[in-house]
Amino acid sequence: MLIRNRKAYDVASSEITPKSLYMARRQFLKTAAFGGTGIAAASMVSPALALASREEVPVHGAKLEGVVQSAWTQASVGLEPTPFDLVASYNNFYEFGTGKGRPLTEAKNFKPMPWTVKIDGDVEKPGTYDFEDLIKPHQLEERVYRLRCVEAWSMVVPWVGIPLADVIKRMGPGGNAKYVAFETLHDSKRMPGQKRPTIEWPYVEGLRMDEAMNPLTLLAVGLYGEVLPNQNGAPIRLVVPWKYGFKSIKSIVRISFVEKEPPTSWNKSQPKEYGFYANVNPEVDHPRWSQGKERRIGGAENVFGFTAKHPTLKFNGYEEEVAAMYQGMDLARYY
Ligand code: MTE
Repeated sequence: MLIRNRKAYDVASSEITPKSLYMARRQFLKTAAFGGTGIAAASMVSPALALASREEVPVHGAKLEGVVQSAWTQASVGLEPTPFDLVASYNNFYEFGTGKGRPLTEAKNFKPMPWTVKIDGDVEKPGTYDFEDLIKPHQLEERVYRLRCVEAWSMVVPWVGIPLADVIKRMGPGGNAKYVAFETLHDSKRMPGQKRPTIEWPYVEGLRMDEAMNPLTLLAVGLYGEVLPNQNGAPIRLVVPWKYGFKSIKSIVRISFVEKEPPTSWNKSQPKEYGFYANVNPEVDHPRWSQGKERRIGGAENVFGFTAKHPTLKFNGYEEEVAAMYQGMDLARYY
């Protein structure tokens, strides 16, 4: 395996967007309004896309050492990764505001460390683990994954993380652990968006045990070879690439092994629109819009318009790896 000690922008020159085109996109993104397809009513109230100015674009974080390349490379995705400053400035993280540009500015002073993750429920090794103790025994990998948001935009992100399955095996779930539930930090002093009742806090998510154990499911601690930016869910978040982005819960403080399907934030908030499974599926429309196509953030079409251009792939392109888990299930019913 190849040890990757790459820099944040260590990509082939052929992959780099010409600066003029890139600046035009930025200008377009800054002035465009993306209302109308928001995940929640709140994002429709303030539809203006407040991308940060050049000066506010995030400073790169500390480089992560000892990261190995995985089987999920840029070549396997077949798409150019979304530039770092778009990945780190066009975010959904309601704990830091509902506008796409808010998390970048509102999470600027968030200090994730020290961080602990509570492991509980039906598990052999429950406890409160320091971030380091949770991560250290495992090998950090880079995985280039597509991210498809339920709002019909998408990105390609080179995450750095560890397979969730490795952590689960180490913790030793019991026979009644049929699901894994996740919880985000709930502290409105540190996450000012939680002062507003946008959704019920804390943000919660869940996976069925086989989904959690699927080799694709990642606990991410970084992107572009660097420590995860605050706005992307520092210090640790889930990445479930075949599901809509809202399943990929950020800033996790608790992982519970439970018997019953756990409640999930968007399902609690708008049950008819957001189900527990949330598998990316172009054949099942959202009640308010089609899921057949997507708009790539940073994609060339954004210069001239923001029509969703690219066909969305079933299970976001990961059908081969995950379809067997849902055999016999009516995916329109279990959306
Ligand atoms: N996790 C928490 N705690 N709060 C959130 O608002 N938004 C979700 C998901 N995880 C969200 C969250 C949604 S809707 C998406 S699309 C992804 O995070 C966005 O991840 P990104 O900002 O890194 O692209």
